Amino acid sequence: MIVVDDIHKHFGGFHAVDGASLTIREGSITGLIGPNGAGKTTLFNVIAGLLPPTSGRVTMHGEDITGLPPHALFHKGLLRTFQIAHEFHSMTVRENLMMVPGNQSGETLWNAWFRRGMIASEEVALRRKSDEVLDFLTIAHLADEKAGNLSGGQKKLLELGRTMMVDARIVFLDEVGAGVNRTLLMTIADAILRLNRERGYTFVVIEHDMDFIGKLCDPVICMAEGRVLAEGTLEEIKANEQVIEAYLGTGLKNKELAG
Ligand SMILES: Nc1ncnc2c1ncn2[C@@H]1O[C@H](COP(=O)(O)OP(=O)(O)O)[C@@H](O)[C@H]1O
Ligand SMILES: [Mg+2]
Repeated sequence: MIVVDDIHKHFGGFHAVDGASLTIREGSITGLIGPNGAGKTTLFNVIAGLLPPTSGRVTMHGEDITGLPPHALFHKGLLRTFQIAHEFHSMTVRENLMMVPGNQSGETLWNAWFRRGMIASEEVALRRKSDEVLDFLTIAHLADEKAGNLSGGQKKLLELGRTMMVDARIVFLDEVGAGVNRTLLMTIADAILRLNRERGYTFVVIEHDMDFIGKLCDPVICMAEGRVLAEGTLEEIKANEQVIEAYLGTGLKNKELAG
């Protein structure tokens, strides 16, 4: 579905991504792991159109999408989740969902202003869709809560929910489990699995929690120093000498991998 071919991203003289190549198979939940500073987030940002690569190519279904802006990728169903922006904290959970289709589509302010005159039937449809999404994510009871009052994990579910308001095909999740309690992490994992199996979403997931990766991801790709070191099942990755060395080299004493 996605082919990343020899991507380089330099910041001044620093090679954050240094010739990364990988393939994302349609229908997979692909895990991206690697020590801090490996270049995972930078590579995500290049693929998702937030950073232009220094060189290299990204294709989606064979079409060159290198450097396309996020809203163009959004229309192709390629989404990267973001933390709910501060200004949306005072809106309810449902409102945060209802505004997604118009908000991310790269419309001009002028069009956005016109949308306020949105006919009632469109608003009803959006509301129904939002409530379906909240049901799916098991957070229907939070519909009228202000987004700013949600816990860290509930906000992650809302971020995932935002991808369900449009026809997402492939979703990039960067450390969706960071700072989330165990129970909610498993709710998030379940939602990802169900979106994958029932709705055909492809996922690429950066995560440090190896239980989470093991439960969801096949294959797992390990990056270090801006390059792909290895790809395989989590078991294969854990047994890979170069991978172990990369984690040891960061002084983590292999804690993450062992965990
Ligand atoms: N905008 C930037 N300017 C300079 N250096 C950056 C920038 N973004 C990331 N880096 C550096 O690139 C390297 C890779 O970062 P990152 O992609 O965030 O790694 P990871 O997500 O794997 O932890 C790090 O050393 C980081 O400090
Ligand atoms: Mg990162």
